[in-house]
Amino acid sequence: MTAIIKSSLPGPKSKEFLAKKEMYVPEAMGAMAPFMIAKAEGAWITDVDGNRFLDLTGGWGCLNVGHAHPKVVKAVQDQAAKFIHTDYSVVSYDVYGDLAEKLVRSTSGPSSKKVAFFNCGAEAVENAVKISRSYTKRGSVLVFEGAFHGRTLLTMTMTHKAKPYKYHYGPFAPDIYRAPYPNPYRNPLSFHELEKKIVSLVNPDELACVVVEAIQGEGGFIVPMDDLLPGLRKFTKENGILLVLDEVQAGMGRTGKFFAYEHWNIEPDLVVVGKSLASGMPLSAVLGKKEIMDAMPDSSIGGTYVGNPICCAAGAAVMDVIHEEKLLDKANKLGSLMKNRFSVIQEKCDLVGDVRGIGAMVAMEFVKDRKTKEPAGEETAKITKEALSNGVLLAKAGLYGNVIRMLIPLVIEEKDLIFGLDVLQKAIEKITS
Ligand SMILES: Cc1ncc(COP(=O)(O)O)c(C=O)c1O
Repeated sequence: MTAIIKSSLPGPKSKEFLAKKEMYVPEAMGAMAPFMIAKAEGAWITDVDGNRFLDLTGGWGCLNVGHAHPKVVKAVQDQAAKFIHTDYSVVSYDVYGDLAEKLVRSTSGPSSKKVAFFNCGAEAVENAVKISRSYTKRGSVLVFEGAFHGRTLLTMTMTHKAKPYKYHYGPFAPDIYRAPYPNPYRNPLSFHELEKKIVSLVNPDELACVVVEAIQGEGGFIVPMDDLLPGLRKFTKENGILLVLDEVQAGMGRTGKFFAYEHWNIEPDLVVVGKSLASGMPLSAVLGKKEIMDAMPDSSIGGTYVGNPICCAAGAAVMDVIHEEKLLDKANKLGSLMKNRFSVIQEKCDLVGDVRGIGAMVAMEFVKDRKTKEPAGEETAKITKEALSNGVLLAKAGLYGNVIRMLIPLVIEEKDLIFGLDVLQKAIEKITS
């Protein structure tokens, strides 16, 4: 397949639908793409005017198995024809246990584990904090600079970036402490230095949990200093604190392992999963050690729609596709291809300050000056706009919006990815020429 741009964007039909959106939908629900989708398949989106785009955003990382994977579509259709809803706390169903089993079997580490499902990433993070507080009988939570954990009151508080996520939305939830995230490019703190900062922020015996992304997603695909996760594992264990890994963006195979934390050989107490878990159907999960997950009173976690049967059926199909199509290996292969290309671009172009990532979770950070590392946010926006006008959708990230992150569907064909990288490279060359 190839990109097709037949009209100026938005095309005439998109314009018509966008007028309705403008009339009835709040401006806060803005979209990056200046068009309306008609259909999507694999890594490609076709709009209502017949334009076709390569989607390297995967709906913000929800589509590791691609748009409308036939196995996921069939699972959704079959389940919808059987029953759509019971509320799992009224009548339970096997597809919930089926997906829970598949997730536990894909997880490394010696402990027995159990899974509770929720609707979105933020809700699962909230529940991981509730579970941690209930288990430890403590109230405080430690999070990091650059973190993104969601938009509800608690997770918005845990999220770092003020604008747009927190601006005028306070007051915020209490007892959240924020430590620096050891970023090898901008803030290369050792764990020893970090630990000193943590204990000056909050007494460890008040902490219920530390919530951390193994590789920061919205923060700019930051792979932390190598000793962060092993250091946190040791520190939390010694102080009776639960270690919660937010794998909403980095998990489900994107980094070439099922969960990103596996690259550091640790076993967390709780893991939060979302996004690609059910290929865009609203489903998230907290996966944790059995003794922790079994410690809460009956009905103290849950919700009307949590673990909806159609979403669980989609999730079970996603798990099968990841294994059958060897998507972890593919993430590594496509990741090397992207990283090599990014390094070539970096050599030619001073605007690229850093190239980083693991597996297919790779990114480029743009700076005005390699010495001062002043973020090049406007230039990054121009690059993604230029790529979009040539049929490629790209995702930005970072506190300063100066990172382009690759959230490719892992099922993408290599030649299509190469097309996307060519368009990205040309866009960078055009903006910097
Ligand atoms: C690491 C991380 N945690 C949590 C969330 C929140 O997920 P959701 O938008 O499904 O609530 C996100 C969303 O981008 C995320 O990247």
